[in-house]
Amino acid sequence: MEERIQKILSGAGICSRRKAEEYLNAGRVQVNGRVAALGEKADPQRDHIQVDGVALTQPRRHTYLMLHKPRGYVTTLSDEKGRKTVAQLVADCGVRVWPVGRLDMDSEGLLLLTNDGPLAHRLLSPRHHVDKTYFVRVDGALDREDAEAFAAGMTLADGLACLPAGLELLDTPDAAIVTLREGKYHQIKRMLAQRGKPVVYLKRLTMGPLSLDPALEKGEWRPLTAEELAAIRSV
Ligand code: URA
Repeated sequence: MEERIQKILSGAGICSRRKAEEYLNAGRVQVNGRVAALGEKADPQRDHIQVDGVALTQPRRHTYLMLHKPRGYVTTLSDEKGRKTVAQLVADCGVRVWPVGRLDMDSEGLLLLTNDGPLAHRLLSPRHHVDKTYFVRVDGALDREDAEAFAAGMTLADGLACLPAGLELLDTPDAAIVTLREGKYHQIKRMLAQRGKPVVYLKRLTMGPLSLDPALEKGEWRPLTAEELAAIRSV
């Protein structure tokens, strides 16, 4: 079936439709050996489509996206209060994908989205302990005692017991890298609030073997590379 080329590229997980339009305008897409123009259609079953000289392979069975989540978006597919959702940011990928874990509305950074349910389940399972790291800024000054409290495993005021976590002090005393092995609701904010140092900024940097791609602007997504996918599948 013929479709617009930007739709074929995004559906195959190559890039977003907007990026595909840029590729087409830059002459980077060829169909049957000829440079394709924006607005052209093709049939991925019949036509030989190449991006930068690399042939488009058949679409993967599942889709895996890395999103640079900006602040101001909720990590859900729809929101009854009408707030902006991460689903809106990845709508142009052409398939329905779900976030793996969550980031608070005012948090930003790495978010994985996929329609591979078993993989998402495995990554979120407490048995697998996939480490996640965050850059955190607080109102206050962090010190060795905070790092020791995190390492010992904090029990929050409501009785919630947290697994031992990492808190690496940085050169600026109001900032740290926090490593969690679990993902309880508002966990870092609650842990640091209990230390009397409320979080003012939080950004997820890594999830297991995945690192936020510094080339992704806030709100942009890209498919996982084959290497990233292999790494995340092996956790
Ligand atoms: N911990 C938090 O408190 N918020 C997040 O978004 C992630 C971890």
